[in-house]
Amino acid sequence: MNTKSRVARYILNVLSWGINNSKEGRESLFRLFLDNLSVTSYCHGPSERLIIGERVSRANTLFNTRSGTITVKTGVMFGHNCMVLTGYHDISKPGETRKRVTLENAERNIVIEEGVWIASGTIILGPCKIGKNSVIGSGAVVVSDIPEQVLAVGNPARVVKKIEISE
Ligand SMILES: CC(C)(COP(=O)(O)OP(=O)(O)OC[C@H]1O[C@@H](n2cnc3c(N)ncnc32)[C@H](O)[C@@H]1OP(=O)(O)O)[C@@H](O)C(=O)NCCC(=O)NCCS
Repeated sequence: MNTKSRVARYILNVLSWGINNSKEGRESLFRLFLDNLSVTSYCHGPSERLIIGERVSRANTLFNTRSGTITVKTGVMFGHNCMVLTGYHDISKPGETRKRVTLENAERNIVIEEGVWIASGTIILGPCKIGKNSVIGSGAVVVSDIPEQVLAVGNPARVVKKIEISE
């Protein structure tokens, strides 16, 4: 039995214990499940293309690595419901063909430098780079490079002010 199967069997055992045991057990398992759903990030595409630094808070961010790499450096913080997307389908192709073919080597790489704060609901489209210590305001759609130490907001995200960093 491989590791995934063992983990799946363990989870099933714990769940059935909760279900057989008591109403409280079932409720606390359900709460645990919901809590984890809301804080679990997800990588869609090859996981080796997602490079995450130390002390990164990911919340429930969706990382799509289908058409490029995603590099998130030390201390980056994501709010909830962010998406970091490299995935690209050839828009010149008709429907079903477009749907089937993801451009694996489209180089839609994304780099998020050290100390960046990506506020809730932000969407980042590759290729782009977000500079050190910058902040992306809630609900922004980033479609191009953002320099370091600035606040960028809106769709498409534009720089609205320089940030003075104080220790
Ligand atoms: C990052 C953030 C805190 C910046 O706030 P701030 O430093 O007080 O920014 P300011 O109020 O000085 O805004 C500067 C300008 O950008 C605008 N702006 C600020 N945030 C904006 C946003 N998310 N979308 C669009 N415009 C925004 C302001 O209206 C202001 O425009 P003006 O100069 O024309 O008046 C804020 O943008 C934000 O995203 N808040 C939500 C944080 C969040 O997601 N928290 C939970 C998860 S951790």
